[in-house]
Amino acid sequence: MSGNNVVWHDQAVAKDERSELKKQKPCLIWFTGLSGAGKSTVANALDRWLHDNGYHTYLLDGDNVRHGLNKDLGFSDEDRVENIRRVGEVSGLFVDAGIITLSAFISPFRSERRMVRDMFCPGEFIEVFVNTPLDVCEDRDPKGLYKKARTGEIKNFTGISSDYENPEKPEIVVDTATTSVDVCVDKIVQYLCSNAVIPAYSLKEDNTAQVS
Ligand code: ADX
Repeated sequence: MSGNNVVWHDQAVAKDERSELKKQKPCLIWFTGLSGAGKSTVANALDRWLHDNGYHTYLLDGDNVRHGLNKDLGFSDEDRVENIRRVGEVSGLFVDAGIITLSAFISPFRSERRMVRDMFCPGEFIEVFVNTPLDVCEDRDPKGLYKKARTGEIKNFTGISSDYENPEKPEIVVDTATTSVDVCVDKIVQYLCSNAVIPAYSLKEDNTAQVS
């Protein structure tokens, strides 16, 4: 706890100046959905596209962040909330630095996603619900975790023994069971163009993403 003896110190270089230097509008693109839904796959493909088109990005991914910053946290409700709180704070630093930030975390609870949204200015937090059905995620089972969850070897597994609360008003919904990764990326790029995060010239005439 910082207590009362820590005072905020204003910084000499402002957020606007940093994003102006980068010639981009920083934001947080927040991927939420079940394990195996395709959050990391779509986030990585979008990250690749943005980077190849000259944008300065950074991707924070649940599995990776849990190896470092959050390696002290497990999967109880409390630990998941703390996981997301820290990731929200770190994402805030990246956005403040002028970076288009992508975060891929199950983030199963509406209240924790709202907590992160509330850390940002209006329009800066873009929630992408990767709405791939549970049975598809379980069939994919890329890490063999659903199998272990069904036998009880893993406790508190999202979708099996721990809740996932669907977003009520996400900015974007994609479903990797019925849509290719490229089309999911196009959909997000279109949103970013229509909301002036990146310029409209990033789209081709048929509204698909223009590759540089
Ligand atoms: S979150 O719920 O706190 O947002 P986070 O996205 O960081 O989760 O981590 C999810 C990843 O941890 C999953 O992709 C999976 O590989 C792994 N994992 C291990 N145990 C669990 C569990 N009990 N529930 C969900 N994911 C788990």
